[in-house]
Amino acid sequence: MVTPGVTVHVVPDAPALADAAAEWLAQRIARTPALTVLVATGQTPMGMYAQLAERVRAGTLDCSGVTAVQLDEYAGLPEGDPRSLRAWMLRSFVTPLGVQTVVPLLDPAAFTGRLAALGGLDVAVLGLGPNGHVGFNEPPSGPDAPTREVALTPESLRSNAAYWSGLTVPTRAVTAGMDVILGARETLLLVSGAHKCAILSEALDGPETPLVPASFLRRTALTVLADRDARP
Ligand code: GLP
Repeated sequence: MVTPGVTVHVVPDAPALADAAAEWLAQRIARTPALTVLVATGQTPMGMYAQLAERVRAGTLDCSGVTAVQLDEYAGLPEGDPRSLRAWMLRSFVTPLGVQTVVPLLDPAAFTGRLAALGGLDVAVLGLGPNGHVGFNEPPSGPDAPTREVALTPESLRSNAAYWSGLTVPTRAVTAGMDVILGARETLLLVSGAHKCAILSEALDGPETPLVPASFLRRTALTVLADRDARP
């Protein structure tokens, strides 16, 4: 059972996912050059961002009018820490795409105010946490959960360890709230790999519940792009 505002596209594999996701966002940037985009880090969207960077290099896409909005950040990192998710967003999305404007996520109040002044998000590009989190809205997070600092769950600490070989994962993070994410005019959820299959099914086919924060994405104009391992 999938809700009416939700479109699910299943593609063969991760490279096809990158292509389809890049095309989805490129079309929107072509239509609305000043698009405001919430930008996930994590492994899943990296192929998509590389494809978009390729288009920018080829001169077929101009992202200079785009505003990139940070989705989440570890709390308490010193300046220049290699684990910074903002730094990851800058090197994977902002710099290679030639994006000129960034809304960083440092202080929740400043972030919320800046987003309101921008008129909210046009698009949210999201990955799916293995425990159903989006950003770092860990379970339980309801639809009204605001931008805030949270403690990471053991599951997120484990999954995030894959990003930082030899370094520890910070135990706390700041995340854009569910209220911000669900306020996006359109949402793209990218899901790849067999390890995401069960949680994607809970998010799309199970009840809406704070125990699976991604289940609330069905309230939005949601496009899910999944590979066959994640959505057989
Ligand atoms: C991480 C991040 C999310 C990310 C998700 C999926 O913990 N907080 O922003 O989208 O989990 O990550 P990945 O794409 O690496 O599977």
